[in-house]
Amino acid sequence: MTISEIAKLAGVSTSTVSKIMNNKAQSIHPETRERVLKIVKEYNYTPYGAVKSTSHAKTFLIAVLRRSLGKANQLVSGIIRTAQSHGYGVLVFDSQNDLQTELKHITSICQKKVDGVLWEPVDAASAEFTHYFTECGIPVFYHGRAPLQPSYQIDFTHMGYALTQKLIDFRHSRIACLMKRNNYRSEMVLEGYRKCLYDNQIPYDPQLECFISDEDCCSQLMANRATGIVSSHYAAALSLYEQLDHLHYKIPSDFSLVSLKNDIGSAESFPHISGIEIPYGEFGHFICELLIETCETACDPASSDRYLFTPDCQFNRTDSVDLPPSLRSKKIVVVGSINIDNTFNVDGVPQPGETTRILDFSVTLGGKGANQAIGAARFNCEVSLIANIGSDMDSNYVIHTLSNERLSTQGVFRDMGMQTGKAYIYTDENGESAITILPGANAHLSCERIRQRRHLFQNAGYCLLSTEVPLEATIAAARISHSYGAKNIVNPAALKQLPEALIQHTDILVPNRRVAASLCPGLTRVEDQADYLFHLGIPTVIITLGHDGCYLKTLENAQHFPAVDVTAVDTTGGADAFISALAAYLIEGVSIENAIRIATCAASFCVQRQGVVPALVDKTSLEAYINRVHPGLLR
Ligand code: RIB
Repeated sequence: MTISEIAKLAGVSTSTVSKIMNNKAQSIHPETRERVLKIVKEYNYTPYGAVKSTSHAKTFLIAVLRRSLGKANQLVSGIIRTAQSHGYGVLVFDSQNDLQTELKHITSICQKKVDGVLWEPVDAASAEFTHYFTECGIPVFYHGRAPLQPSYQIDFTHMGYALTQKLIDFRHSRIACLMKRNNYRSEMVLEGYRKCLYDNQIPYDPQLECFISDEDCCSQLMANRATGIVSSHYAAALSLYEQLDHLHYKIPSDFSLVSLKNDIGSAESFPHISGIEIPYGEFGHFICELLIETCETACDPASSDRYLFTPDCQFNRTDSVDLPPSLRSKKIVVVGSINIDNTFNVDGVPQPGETTRILDFSVTLGGKGANQAIGAARFNCEVSLIANIGSDMDSNYVIHTLSNERLSTQGVFRDMGMQTGKAYIYTDENGESAITILPGANAHLSCERIRQRRHLFQNAGYCLLSTEVPLEATIAAARISHSYGAKNIVNPAALKQLPEALIQHTDILVPNRRVAASLCPGLTRVEDQADYLFHLGIPTVIITLGHDGCYLKTLENAQHFPAVDVTAVDTTGGADAFISALAAYLIEGVSIENAIRIATCAASFCVQRQGVVPALVDKTSLEAYINRVHPGLLR
C-alpha cells in the first residue's frame, strides 16, 4: 500500500495523509483526520520511505514502561486490549525497580519511535531521563505512584471514602485505618477515610491509624476500642485477619473489616473480606485511551485535566461486615458437652441379666452443649459454643456438623490424642431413654480454657451451662458470664449436689424430675423441691416433668405448665430443646411464663422425632405452629 493509494481511498491529497502521519495535522479537520487514520489502520499501512524518515512519523506502537511488572497484569492487559481496539501494538518494558534498566528501556523505546509512552517511573531520579522522550517528540503519560508529575492515578481517596462509608452505614463510629508505611495508596486511602469521617461528623482519632508492620497493631485496635477497620491493602487485611484469629477474635462479630482488593491473586484471597476491587484493567483502558487521543490529535498531554481515574465503588460481598457488637442483639454462650450419640431403639431397655433386641440404630451429633447451641442457633440467635473434642474421626464429623449450623465454634478446643465424648442411648417403645456416657475430651474442659475464651462472653445475654463437663469449668464459666452481665441458665444434669459457688451464679435452674429429687433429699413433691431450691437463693427454678410439662417457681409465681399432648418417639434431648428455646425467647424480652410455653412447644417438636439434633425445630416452623395453636402467644 502506498501513500497515494491511502490518499485515494480517503479522498484526500497525499500531502494531507503525510501531515496526518507525521503528526502535523493541526490544520486538518478532525473528521478528515479520523477518516484517514481509520483507513491507515485498516490497511496496516506503515509509512516507510519518505514519510517514515521524519522522527514524527506514526508507527502505531505505544510503549508501556513499568517500574515493576509484579502485580500489574490487569493494568497491562487493559492497556493492550484498548490499544489493539485502536489498531495499535504495545511494547511492554519492566524496569525491575532499577534506574539503569529503566534508562536502557528508554533508549530502546526512543529508537523504536513509538507514538506514545505510558510510564511508571522507578523513582524521583527518573526525572533525569524525561528529556530523551522530549527530544524525540514522544508524548509521555506518567501513572501510578509516579514521582514525576502530572501523573495519572486511580482515585484511592474516593475508594477509601467509600470503604469508610460502608462501615458508617453499618453504624460503626470507632473505625481504624489499616495501612502500609510510606505507601502512596495508603496515604490516599487515609485521606478519603478522614474526609468521610469529617462528612459524617465522626471525630478523627490519630490513635486509630495503624500499620500492619507494627507488632502491636491488634493491641492498638483493642486499646482504642475500634469496631471497624478500613484497609488500603488486601494482603494487610488478610494478615490482620490471621492475627486477630490467633487472639480468638472473630470477624465480623468482634471487628468488621473492609479492604481494597486486588493486590493479591484470587487463590490467596481466602477468607473472604468485603471490599472494593481496584479496577486496574479499567484504569489501563482509561490511560491508554487518553494517550492514543493525544497521539492522534497531537494535543499537549500536560493540558489534560483528567489525571484522576474515579471508579465506581461496588462492594462485592459483606461477609466481614456487621453491626458493632454493642448494637447487635445479645448473644447466647453455651458451655457444655459434645458427644457422638449412638442411639439404639430397643424393645426394652436391658436390665441386669436381661437381653433385649435392637430394632434400629443411628449415630448423630449430641451432647447437651452441642444440642443446646444448635437449638438456639436454629432460633436465629448468635451463639458461641465452648466445649472440648478429641482428635479422632468423630471430632471431624463434629466440626463439620457444627459448621453447617450458624454458630461460632471458636470456643471448641481439640485435645490431641483424646476421644470425642460418646453417648450410648437406649430408647424404648414409649420413647423413654436411658443414657450411658463415655466423657472422653469433655472431661478435659478446664477453667483455663474457659478463661482463654472469655471474650466470647462479650455482649452475651444468656449463658447455658450443663454439667456434663467438669464442675469447676462450669463454675468458672458461670462467674465469667456474670462478670459480663449475662444470666446463667443451669441444667444440673446428673448432679447430686449443688455447690454454693454454682448456686450463687445461677439465675435459672432447670433440673429434670429425677435430678431435682436427688438435689432435694427427703422432698418428694415437685412444689416442695422447687421451693427448696428457690430458698437456696436461685431466683428462678423450672423442674421439667417430661409428658407432665414443668413446674415454675419464682418470687412472684409458682405455676404448673402442661406439656403439649403428643406421642413421644424419643424423649432424648427434650430438655435441651426446651432450654435453648427458653433462652432464645427470654433474650427477646418475652416473659418467663410465655418463654416456658414457647419452650414447651419446642420440646414437643423434639420428642416426636428420632435423635436430638435432627429433631430440633427452627424458628419459622415453631412460630408457624404456635400462631396456629396459641394465637397471641408470640405477641
Ligand atoms: O440431653 C441429651 C444428651 O445427653 C444426648 O445428646 C447425650 O449426648 C447426652 O449428653
